[in-house]
Amino acid sequence: MLRDNDLGHMIKAGPSLYPHQWSWDAAFVAIGLAQLSVPRAIAELRTVLAGQWRTGMLPHIIFSDEPGYFPDFDDWGTAVAPALPAGVHSSGICQPPVHAIALELVLQQARRCGGEDLQVAEEFAAEALRRLTRWHEWLSTARGYADVVEIHHGWESGMDNSPRWDEVYAGVKVSRRLEFARMDLNHADASERPSDEEYQRYITLIEQMKSVQFDDVRVKEVLDFRVTDVFMAAILVLAAESLTRIAEDLGQADVATTERARAERTRAGVLATIDPVTGLCRDFDINAQRWLSTESMGGFAAVLMGGDDAETQRQREILLGERWCGHPEMAFPLPPSVSLDSPQLRPREYWRGPVWPVMNWLFAWTALRSGHREDALAWRLAGLDQLRDLSFGEYYEPRTNETLGSPQQSWSAMAAIDWLTNPDWQS
Ligand code: SER
Repeated sequence: MLRDNDLGHMIKAGPSLYPHQWSWDAAFVAIGLAQLSVPRAIAELRTVLAGQWRTGMLPHIIFSDEPGYFPDFDDWGTAVAPALPAGVHSSGICQPPVHAIALELVLQQARRCGGEDLQVAEEFAAEALRRLTRWHEWLSTARGYADVVEIHHGWESGMDNSPRWDEVYAGVKVSRRLEFARMDLNHADASERPSDEEYQRYITLIEQMKSVQFDDVRVKEVLDFRVTDVFMAAILVLAAESLTRIAEDLGQADVATTERARAERTRAGVLATIDPVTGLCRDFDINAQRWLSTESMGGFAAVLMGGDDAETQRQREILLGERWCGHPEMAFPLPPSVSLDSPQLRPREYWRGPVWPVMNWLFAWTALRSGHREDALAWRLAGLDQLRDLSFGEYYEPRTNETLGSPQQSWSAMAAIDWLTNPDWQS
């Protein structure tokens, strides 16, 4: 399946709905690729890093030459951005920083293989280290807010239309209705995708960024969407921890010190967002200066970071409990994007309820990494069960397990590959 989606230097996130390289998709896919071919996994990460902006940002899409996606490079208009490097065709926003995590896992696999794989991987890691540090540094400075990470579009969170962002999107002023064709609806049922109203706001935000040439400072004055993202920040914590270990192995003590400090600071920032009533982490609307308390998978950022403090333990119990994974109507005991009991639930609609295999993998892997082996193995088993029909859907209906969105989604295959072949999962 990955071979079918492979364009040589990049794997399409999905065969028809997503014919380009998405940043966090590519990082996840590299984790699966490493089990098949270490050099191919490295090639994937190399393409991601080659798209790095002069500011340090890794853009969320690197465009291939394939047609059929909206908004494409010309629609984005990033050619006006002084920070776009020559020859790079990318969007002008970012996605969660899974890349250093991927690099650490590729290196682990290279060590198991030894020989040439190890040599190639270590050479690449030495080369990638500075770029990844610059990327993390950009997230903590240009996008640092209250020791969490500020985002400028729901697409940056990766959870485009999650109810987490509803209140923020309500404040996005669509001053003139934009004319465009929704290419995504050629490949997926409209009832499983964000609405036209949502797309008007998505594209309006791009217009606002374009009006200031995607400048990191000026954009903050014109954007109707400025919000901290705790889930993204939790991923930054994990990535900074991975980069710390990689730097230590490569004898780069200065990078290790910087990344360790980043991980600690950001971890404290995420824990400080916990709502004492619900126990979940909260995003913060910067323009409106108010907390966003809508419950969603994003609230489990502390579980993702894998601590053992009382707040995180409580969050873990909530996630495993009857409102979430343990809900009696769930087809499998896996984390849904929105609780089945939530008034915001729309069980077929993208990030408003479906279960996403890549998120199952992420929660399972972070549980494994932080020593919660039982949770990790239970999620792995249920996650594999979910993928049993080999359609590798992008997301699944939480009660019926119907395949939704794009079939043959690359990162869903990655979950199965890693679960089945990575020896870390074997007991
Ligand atoms: N997820 C977005 C889409 O659906 C892009 O990042 O196109």
